[in-house]
Amino acid sequence: MKNDEKFLAGSPKSRETFSSGLAIFFATLGSAVGLGNIWKFPYLTGANGGGAFILIYLVCIALVGVPIMVAEFYLGRKTRSNAVGVFRKLKASKYWRVIGFMGMASSFLIMFFYSAVAGWVYAYVFKAIRGDFRGLSGLSFEQARLVVESQFSEAVSGPVSPFVWQAIAISVVALILCAGVKKGIERVTKTLMPVLLVLIVVCVIRALTLEGATEGFNFLARVDFSKVDASVVLTALGLAFFKLSLGMGTMITYGSYFTSDNNLIKTSFHVALSDTVVSLLAGLAVFPVVFTFGLAPEGGPGLLFQTIPLVFSLLPFGNILLILFFLLTSIAATTAMISMVEVVVVFFTEELKMKRTTAVLLNTSVMLIVGALTVHPSSIFGSARIFGKSFFDSFDYMSSNILLPIGGLLIAIYVGYRVSSANLKLELSNQGILKNGRLVSTYHSVLRYVTPLLLFLVFLNVIGVLTF
Ligand code: TRP
Repeated sequence: MKNDEKFLAGSPKSRETFSSGLAIFFATLGSAVGLGNIWKFPYLTGANGGGAFILIYLVCIALVGVPIMVAEFYLGRKTRSNAVGVFRKLKASKYWRVIGFMGMASSFLIMFFYSAVAGWVYAYVFKAIRGDFRGLSGLSFEQARLVVESQFSEAVSGPVSPFVWQAIAISVVALILCAGVKKGIERVTKTLMPVLLVLIVVCVIRALTLEGATEGFNFLARVDFSKVDASVVLTALGLAFFKLSLGMGTMITYGSYFTSDNNLIKTSFHVALSDTVVSLLAGLAVFPVVFTFGLAPEGGPGLLFQTIPLVFSLLPFGNILLILFFLLTSIAATTAMISMVEVVVVFFTEELKMKRTTAVLLNTSVMLIVGALTVHPSSIFGSARIFGKSFFDSFDYMSSNILLPIGGLLIAIYVGYRVSSANLKLELSNQGILKNGRLVSTYHSVLRYVTPLLLFLVFLNVIGVLTF
């Protein structure tokens, strides 16, 4: 703790930091790994044609995701501030604060639907405990598929239960946030992330020994660019931002809790790599099941909830493993939500001087009320459409595909062009302790020339100015 106090000289006494490099890694990974890997990555891959989508996604992670993550860590740790306060502390023109405000808007938009999906996961823990999926192993593949399909639509469109589960999910987030960063976030992430990984690997092994394994594997590995158009590229880019929790200040906020001796570039690589491995494993667990049981690869948001009960129904102790899987997924979803809401909470406590508990309760209440009213099929706005999309889809589209990439572009421009290379070098080498001068120079060039250019090209393409 003494060390931390020294590092925090000049910032408010009450600010916490994570306690060690390992805690930093797991807390950050806890933000990155969530429903994005386990739920969104497989279904977007399915809907966008498989291998080619994954390849574009990987390029986005390497050339856009990692550089922006380092830039966010830089901003956070350098200023030890929230996503809006950063630009005040750096004495930047006040227009840059728009990054922080847009980030908060994204946090709300994402939470509206993310907490609903987290609610589905919580509901599935309960369903698995109750034994709803016990009978699956005795059925034919066709019958089993019909059962999981109807179970899913029942779970998400019931008149009461989706709302209750969403409320429970948000309440858990609120409780942990009230406990504070170190106690709340560190404790949960450090122990449970490794267990989730083991369970996913179990799923993968079983899935890869199914009849449909080759077909599932080929679907992920076949690179067919004929289905790729601008919207597929934008979706892959949006997913890269979503996956690594970028473009809205989450990593600025977490960076502000890092210790001064943390190697920011290394941490970014480790987090991005581990996160990608988890996503790919989730894909390997899901698609063999899809092809074995005749589900539609482009089946959408229900994909995870239909495939996982099926694969566990074919394993010894399947029901116990199923309970464990959804339990750990609910925890991954919860730690990701914590990082999302934390951005808004620190803004309220530091910039508006609100008490932490009040800030948590106020913001999570808004997230719950607006989220519940809009995203469920049986809610009052359930059938409403904006630009031809449901509220659920349009919140997702506006945040992932528009706000996060624009936030990322602005962050890249700020750190690439407004921060002097001497300052950047000093912070990224921990005041000269790390001898990584060449790496930092390369990084700086990528952040100045490659990352913004790619983002810009994708935008031009999306609005139709440029076609390729
Ligand atoms: N990365 C998380 C996931 O994959 C979601 C998430 C957490 C997020 N914090 C974020 C997405 C901030 C965008 C921005 O599930």
